[in-house]
Parts: sequence; C-alpha cells; structure tokens
Amino acid sequence: MRSVGLVLIPALAASVSAAPSDAKIAGIDLGKIFDPPSWWWLPDLLKPKLTAKAYEKAVTIEGLLQHSRALSRFAAIDGKNTRSFGTPGYNASVEYVEKWAKAYGYDVTRQTVLYPATEHLSQALTVGDKVFSPADLRIFQFVPSTPDGGAKGLIYHVNQGCNPSDFEGTQGGIVLARRGNCTFVEKGELAKATGVQGLIIYNDVPGQPLASRLNISSIEQNPPTLAISFEAGREIIAKLEAGQELQTTLDIQVKNLVRPADNVIAQTKWGDKNNVVMLGGHLDSVPAGPGINDDGSGTAGVAELLKQLARFRKSKNAVRFAWWATEEVGLIGSRYYVEQLSQAEKDKIALYINLDMIASPNYIIGIHDADNSGGQNSGVPAPAGSNTLEALTQDYYNDRGLNWTGTAFTAGSDYRPFLDAGIVAGGIATGASGVKNQREFDLFGGELGEWHDKCYHQPCDTLDNLNHDAFIRISRSVAYLIATLSADVSPIKNEAGLAARGLPLSRRAPDEVSSLGKNCADHPEL
Ligand SMILES: *[C@@H]1O[C@H](CO)[C@@H](O)[C@H](O)[C@H]1NC(C)=O
Ligand SMILES: *[C@@H]1O[C@H](CO)[C@@H](O)[C@H](O)[C@H]1NC(C)=O
Ligand SMILES: *[C@@H]1O[C@H](CO)[C@@H](O)[C@H](O)[C@H]1NC(C)=O
Ligand SMILES: *[C@@H]1O[C@H](CO)[C@@H](O)[C@H](O)[C@H]1NC(C)=O
Repeated sequence: MRSVGLVLIPALAASVSAAPSDAKIAGIDLGKIFDPPSWWWLPDLLKPKLTAKAYEKAVTIEGLLQHSRALSRFAAIDGKNTRSFGTPGYNASVEYVEKWAKAYGYDVTRQTVLYPATEHLSQALTVGDKVFSPADLRIFQFVPSTPDGGAKGLIYHVNQGCNPSDFEGTQGGIVLARRGNCTFVEKGELAKATGVQGLIIYNDVPGQPLASRLNISSIEQNPPTLAISFEAGREIIAKLEAGQELQTTLDIQVKNLVRPADNVIAQTKWGDKNNVVMLGGHLDSVPAGPGINDDGSGTAGVAELLKQLARFRKSKNAVRFAWWATEEVGLIGSRYYVEQLSQAEKDKIALYINLDMIASPNYIIGIHDADNSGGQNSGVPAPAGSNTLEALTQDYYNDRGLNWTGTAFTAGSDYRPFLDAGIVAGGIATGASGVKNQREFDLFGGELGEWHDKCYHQPCDTLDNLNHDAFIRISRSVAYLIATLSADVSPIKNEAGLAARGLPLSRRAPDEVSSLGKNCADHPEL
C-alpha cells in the first residue's frame, strides 16, 4: 500500500501542481508562493500522524519570513509604508492570507467589518501673531471639522486637562493641554463637557507632535482636536504666563467616513467542530508604519502554522485560524467576529490563542497570566480552562529549559472579546513599548532599559525589526499547543468541569508580570 502510494502520488502531484497559479496580489508577483509542495497532495492515510515534535520541526524561520517579506511588499504599495485599515496594503494582506489558506485546502471565509475613520483634508492654526505651518499640525481621529473660516476665540492653558477644574472658565474658548497622565479620550471628554471650540494637545517630550484619537462613539460631539509639538506648546504657554491674551483661529477640515475592512477565517475541513482549537492575530498595522512585527509577526505565525498543519493526517478537533481587521483602532474586527457568533457557536470554541507581536527585537516571552496570579489583569476574569492553557504553555517552556515571564490580560489585544464572551483564551507576546527591566534582562538578554520594540507603531517596524529566535520559538510553542489540544481538549474542559462543581483548581506559584507597554485599554492612548 505504502509503496504503491509513493509511486502514484508524485505523478499525481506533478500533474496537478503543473497548473499555473495566479500569484499576483495588487500587481505584485509573488512567484510560486501559493503552489503547495508535493506532500500536500498525499491522501490523508499516507500522511504522517500529527505529533507536536514533527509539527514543531516543520515550522521554520524561512517559512515564517516568506510571509514577512510579502507583507513588507504590500506595505510599500503606492509608497504608503502602512498596512492600516482602509489602505491598499491592508487589502493586499487580506487577499494574501485568504489565497494562502485556500491553497492549503482550508474552508475560508471573509467577514466584512464596518468602522469609522477620519480622513484629514486640511489643518491651520494661528495663535496670536504666530501662523503655524500645516506640516507642524496633526489632526486627531474621530473629530469633526471646525465651522467655515475656523473656530475663533482666546486660547487657555489647562495643564494636562485631566481634571474638570483644569477647564474652569474656558467655555467657548480654545484650550491647550499637555499630553500625558490621562488618556487623550479623557481630555477630549472633559473638553467636550466644558463646551470648548477646540482642543490642542502638545507633546510632553521634544520632537514631533503626536496625534491619536478621541472617543469613537461621539465623533460629532468631540472638540475639533489638533496635536502640536512640545516646543510649540511651551512657546504659547510662555506668552500666556507673560500675561498676553492670544486670539486663536483653529481650522480643521475632515471627512468622517465608515469604511469596510475584512476579517479572514480559515478552518480545517476535518475535525470535531464542537471543540474547535482556535488561534489568531491581527492583520492591520497602524497608519504610521508597515507593522512587520506588529502584527505581521503574528500574521506570519498563523499563516505558517496553517500550512504546516496540512502536512499531517487529520487530528481529532477542528483547528480554526483567524486574521483580524482593525485591531489598532480598538479590537474592532475580533469583537465583531465574536459578537456575531450565536451562543451555540461560541460554546464550540474550546479555546483561543492570541498572537500579537511575537518577534520584538528586544523581546520578552510573555505568557498571558490567565489565573491572574500576578494580580495585574483587568476586565472580566478569564473563564475556567484558561488556567490550564496557561499552564500547558508554561510547561512547554519549562520542559525545554526556556525562560518566560507572565503578562497581564488587559484590553490590549484580540483575546479581550473572547474573554468577554466567556471563551477560554491565552497567548504569548514579546512586548511593545515596555521597557526591559533587570529581571527581564536576566531572563532574555537583549538591551536593558530599552523598549521591547523600539519601532513599536513607527515607520521602522520593518523586516529588520524582527528577532528570529523569538519568532521561531513562539511559533513552535504554538505548534505544540495546537498538536496537543487538537488531539484532546479534555484538560481544558476538565478545569471548567471542576470550576462548575466549585472544586479547587491546582494553583501555581504566582507569576511575576512584565508590562508589554501597549498603550491601550481598548487602545485609548495616553
Ligand atoms: C479594500 O477592500 C474593501 C472591501 O473589502 C473595499 O470596499 C475598499 O474599497 C478597498 N480599499 C482599497 C484602498 O482598495
Ligand atoms: C492625573 O489624572 C487623574 C485622572 O485621570 C487626575 O485625578 C489627577 O489629578 C491628574 N494629575 C494631574 C497632575 O493632572
Ligand atoms: C464615549 O462616548 C460614549 C457616547 O457618548 C459614552 O457612552 C462613553 O462613555 C464615552 N467613552 C469614554 C471612554 O469616555
Ligand atoms: C534563564 O534565566 C536564568 C536566570 O536569569 C539565566 O541564568 C539563564 O541563562 C536563562 N536561560 C536562557 C536559556 O536564557
């Protein structure tokens, strides 16, 4: 049987794979990337059994990097250097993972998600006799335009704009707040409540102004908001402190739109669909950069794990892979996906593993602290079963003498909607603007006192910004989790069973928790 198969199959493979496949995406020729190798054509019976060891070995750095390179090329379309939602770079990324998953025989669906976006048309600011150059002004997302001719009034300094008292006496005026201490959204809410005509936020560090977004749920009520540099902010304050009254004109013109972006979901054709093992990562970058680590690395990990799983004979439980839209503006894609599921469909997801930034250059290996032993989690507690997923992940590293640290479940990535819906979740991340402390340095080496990812949310998040050791190590640990749990999810279910009967769960030593430094609780940034 075996020898007959070996004779027949290469012939079959040769005849099928000879068919030319269209490997162009957005006009970019990716060569033979979507042509499955000959092993893919083997009938299930002739494929090797899925073992963690073999699956791990099949995942290679070269396999991961081919995706990083493709994403890099998409980010470069039209010279935009981004794969943010609504850009051609994002759409090309969608087409890529969809084509990839189809090439390896998965059931693939796209799900369109609608989300607001603010298109910037023009910006102008005059304060006293100083006329700003538009290039020195940045408009916030989710703000309305000023009236024709601009908003006119006196400018007031409101410190950091984190207390209602900061805004006393500024009604009808234009206010200047320093970045920091509370979120941009909180500053915007206080400015809105005061009834100011406009809000200007100056950076709290020298250099470029930094714009983010205000409350997405109240776009038309938000004050028109601009960012200026630290130096420009200090100059205005110096004049105000010298007793000058400064007539100000703030003119911003924007178009608030609702744009579509797609989630992509792929599932094995085989396996028990009532106990789905799921993993995912977000497909979009921020507007400021190409996002090859954030989250091109998670995107690549998911893609390569999907391909390599197809080498093996079918396992027991179905495996589902997801790439999320618009994570960077507040977990929009994953939240929409989870909220669209019926309770019965939610119940069929045995667990979800999140991969958001798995190749940070100055990495930590942060395993999400499902049992909250480190005490840093926010939001609803992780449902029973999540502790077991955490423990399995920790054991993988422990058994191989590899170091790891804990990291909190916050609202900082796509695990959140799953946890909120009572679905078991976990994940591993290598850090963003978290600063490497002495303990992390002892565990992982790298650069003490520097960000885990010095290019976090910046133009330099390119192919050069990937740590290959972390990339491959984490991808292989997830291969282990998929192989183990697609064969048997009962450890996860058993924990839920114990919890349901009010029985104590086995507890481990408390985790020491590292901060990933994602500036977000639902991504409202500071
Ligand atoms: C991206 O795809 C969406 C829908 O999938 C489409 O409506 C939109 O026009 C596309 N945008 C670009 C820039 O190609
Ligand atoms: C920092 O923000 C909090 C509210 O988020 C506020 O209570 C506190 O007074 C603020 N501190 C300063 C120095 O503005
Ligand atoms: C955003 O605005 C909505 C609608 O006005 C409000 O319910 C919500 O509390 C606001 N969010 C924040 C963080 O202020
Ligand atoms: C793990 O951390 C320990 C303690 O800091 C360190 O001595 C060891 O070298 C680390 N191991 C690896 C594989 O990096």
